Amino acid sequence: MNTTAIIIAGISGIALGLLAYRILRNWSIAIAIPLLVVAGAAVLIPEKKLPLETSPTVAVDPNLPDDSGKSVADSAETSIMTLASLQHTRPVEVPKDGYVGSDACIECHQDNHTTWAESYHSTMTQLATPDVVMGNLESVRLSFQGHDYEIHREGDVFWADLPDEKFPDVKSKRKVVPLVMSTGSHHMQLYWWATGDDRTTGLLPFVWVAETGEWIPRNASFLQPNVAVSQEIGRWGQTCSMCHSTHRRVRSTTSDTWDTKVAEFGISCEACHGPGQPHIDHHRQLALAVTNTSDGTSEIKQDPIANPESMDKVRSAQVCGQCHSVVELTGGKEGIEHLNMHGHGFRPGGDFAASHKVLRIDEHDATREIMDPNNPAAAKFNTTFYKDGMVRVSGREYNGLTDSACYKKGEMTCITCHQLHQSSLDDRPVKEWANDQLKPEALNDQICLDCHSEDQYNTSHTHHAAGSSGSSCYNCHMPHTTYGLLKAIRSHTITSPNVAKDVAAGRPNACNLCHLDKTLQWTADSLKKWYQIEPPELDKDQREIAASLLWILKGDAAQRALVAWSMGWPAAQAVSGTNWQMPFISQLLDDPYLAIRFIARRSLRSLEGLDDLKVNMFGPPEARQAAIAAIAQFWYETQESSVSKQSELLFGKDGLDFERVQRLLRECDNSPVVLDE
Ligand code: HEC
Ligand code: HEC
Ligand code: HEC
Ligand code: HEC
Ligand code: HEC
Ligand code: HEC
Ligand code: HEC
Ligand code: HEC
Repeated sequence: MNTTAIIIAGISGIALGLLAYRILRNWSIAIAIPLLVVAGAAVLIPEKKLPLETSPTVAVDPNLPDDSGKSVADSAETSIMTLASLQHTRPVEVPKDGYVGSDACIECHQDNHTTWAESYHSTMTQLATPDVVMGNLESVRLSFQGHDYEIHREGDVFWADLPDEKFPDVKSKRKVVPLVMSTGSHHMQLYWWATGDDRTTGLLPFVWVAETGEWIPRNASFLQPNVAVSQEIGRWGQTCSMCHSTHRRVRSTTSDTWDTKVAEFGISCEACHGPGQPHIDHHRQLALAVTNTSDGTSEIKQDPIANPESMDKVRSAQVCGQCHSVVELTGGKEGIEHLNMHGHGFRPGGDFAASHKVLRIDEHDATREIMDPNNPAAAKFNTTFYKDGMVRVSGREYNGLTDSACYKKGEMTCITCHQLHQSSLDDRPVKEWANDQLKPEALNDQICLDCHSEDQYNTSHTHHAAGSSGSSCYNCHMPHTTYGLLKAIRSHTITSPNVAKDVAAGRPNACNLCHLDKTLQWTADSLKKWYQIEPPELDKDQREIAASLLWILKGDAAQRALVAWSMGWPAAQAVSGTNWQMPFISQLLDDPYLAIRFIARRSLRSLEGLDDLKVNMFGPPEARQAAIAAIAQFWYETQESSVSKQSELLFGKDGLDFERVQRLLRECDNSPVVLDE
């Protein structure tokens, strides 16, 4: 080992030490680690640069031998079963109350049926059959938090051998249960197993991530503190089915368990168009649809089907808002029990507010009381919103839309931009449309210019060159300040960048999410120059250090997640450069929030030389610390010399200024944040 290697090892050790500091909050250990690393460098740091091979994240053994585990021993009993024969143990489709199911529409609406079937709405909830299951479940052993889960397939049924939740720590108390249902089919997929108690299901604590083709623990799929995963017994009936199925009735009159019946799994035609039977009757027996009026003439009755396109903006948005909002059922305990038994009374075209309450933080709103920070139950809910009340979690776009002037003072609704059936004029491949279901004109500024004049909102308004990413309306007015599904998505509240307001709300602003290398002061000064917005008083860090680094190193979990995502955003990389990012993003590989580790790894993989990065994100911390150290080494070897050593990017004249980095990490905002879609 030569001297350079030792120096590099020492530097990497410092990075490691920083990390240890972050985890342990104990300086003496953090200082000791650099020394240890130098001593053990030959072992800890590979001679070659990358890949950083470590043991797999969630322990996965795809080659579980057929003769191991008691699940297989039970096979004589289980192998004759099919998912159909397990019907009594799982949620079931029972059309009722005029709901007839999507098959009944094919005959007359082949095209609408086809585009719907291609959308992820249609496959939100499915039976966990082999053609539906995306994850590798053929024969796999997964373990997390000291518990083992073994899954294998027999015939068309997947079986899980898992700990009994009543005795989670007793190794011998295990059970073998069939996986009956899946949730999701786009970004991720989860699996429910039958408890055998009525139609009540429990949830497997692992999630299959489609993007990377890997299992992650379920508590990594939401932004939440790394707590123990529970089996979520009954949760589908109680909660998820509200938005992940059509016309659910979840309780029987005679029992307390979850006897979940739905008109249809997934979000089907009738979730948006209302019950279909009266409409079908109307068209089959047109004679009956004619009323005789008093003057002896007859007129054709109105078609009872609902179409969001022919509703006013309020009713139209509510159709989507029933699921895409932060919402609570109203009616008190009794009312909710009634809704649970009979399904909720809302029908597309009707008034959603009669049975549901959309929650907001707003001084004028009674829901303010649940925002009381002294109420422990509110802790989770509080962080759903920025401090000024803007919703910051995905899947809740209705809150954002209805807070926006374009809706309040204009006619903008969800289907101004989204199209729920791909148009025959839209020549994109169907899966491209299905991802976000946007109209072609909503992929760019055209959609805004339908209502806002191009004569006014051109480069004289944007102050960026025509065609520049900095000239796109979306990038300044719907920035990626919403978190969901392991990524940042565009806020659906239409606002304008404003440093004072964004800082007060705890929200990254649009300008600094693209100009990652600039300070808040720089943005405030530009906004003053371009838009005459008065700059606020900013503190020393906000004046001197790039805003992205303040968010990454000392921000709260939501800020860290969003900015970690932005560091992998091509538009931001193009304008901010990437050669300075590695040592900062890599810090997040050992963030206390598992989801942030995942996002950080994705952004790191977008950087030159790290596309093969493999890190054990969920195992013991040593592996991650070694990865951080190795990334630091790689960066020193390949990129450090090309970085312009700006003080804003935490460089001193001798290179990275560790003291300032350490100080920021020490100030990290550790208040709990929970953002679950
Ligand atoms: C027997 C044929 C028939 C069946 C079955 C049928 N429809 Fe229709 N539907 C029609 C006709 C006819 C129209 C009016 C012409 C058109 O828009 O195609 C229509 C129109 C519609 C419209 C547009 C209404 C408007 O005013 O904009 C919707 C939405 C719709 N149907 C939904 C459904 C759904 C959902 C189902 C299944 C539950 C269904 N239909 C089943 C015949 C049918
Ligand atoms: C208030 C309505 C609502 C409830 C309740 C709800 N979800 Fe969702 N869920 C959504 C919406 C809306 C989306 C789409 C979010 C997006 O695309 O950003 C979604 C998306 C998802 C996805 C991603 C699916 C994919 O294909 O990538 C998963 C997984 C998921 N939800 C799981 C759950 C689970 C588990 C529960 C119950 C514990 C639940 N959700 C409860 C509305 C809801
Ligand atoms: C998530 C909501 C949603 C679902 C699910 C849905 N639709 Fe639609 N549908 C709409 C909206 C919104 C429109 C207005 C046009 C658009 O956005 O594509 C529409 C329009 C229609 C129309 C009018 C003709 C047209 O294309 O404009 C028909 C017919 C229709 N839908 C039938 C169906 C059928 C049949 C199904 C199920 C197989 C279905 N829809 C599922 C939201 C939905
Ligand atoms: C019954 C509940 C429900 C209704 C009604 C509903 N959605 Fe959804 N929506 C969901 C859920 C759950 C998902 C997640 C599905 C997925 O992505 O797998 C989703 C996903 C989406 C997506 C993301 C698709 C993707 O995977 O990229 C869009 C866009 C969307 N919905 C828009 C709308 C609009 C617009 C309306 C109203 C016309 C609407 N939805 C009505 C529940 C609903
Ligand atoms: C001004 C245009 C516009 C309006 C209005 C709008 N959206 Fe979107 N929506 C978008 C764009 C653009 C995206 C893609 C965002 C991204 O990739 O980050 C999107 C993405 C989504 C997604 C997918 C999020 C994900 O996880 O990738 C959902 C769900 C969604 N919108 C639902 C809605 C609903 C529900 C409404 C009405 C309450 C609505 N949108 C209104 C433009 C709009
Ligand atoms: C359906 C028409 C419509 C569409 C589409 C639309 N807007 Fe608007 N928007 C309005 C109206 C109306 C107002 C209120 C104008 C007023 O106050 O005089 C408004 C206000 C605004 C404001 C001021 C917000 C505030 O809080 O004062 C901004 C910024 C804005 N729009 C940006 C956009 C952008 C960006 C898009 C495209 C993503 C867009 N709008 C799409 C109708 C629309
Ligand atoms: C999505 C990316 C993006 C966003 C958002 C964005 N910009 Fe830019 N910005 C650029 C690009 C690309 C350039 C390069 C020159 C051009 O395109 O005009 C640039 C150039 C600049 C420049 C001149 C060059 C320099 O570095 O001094 C300033 C000043 C600037 N932007 C300020 C802002 C401000 C202030 C905001 C927010 C109101 C903002 N930008 C939002 C991408 C962005
Ligand atoms: C580089 C960032 C940036 C881009 C790109 C941008 N805007 Fe703006 N926009 C702003 C800022 C900042 C304000 C707030 C000005 C204020 O408060 O006086 C604003 C304000 C507005 C308003 C509110 C009324 C007004 O004029 O103050 C509308 C409407 C608007 N923008 C529409 C658009 C449209 C449409 C586009 C795309 C063609 C667009 N903007 C692109 C930064 C941008």
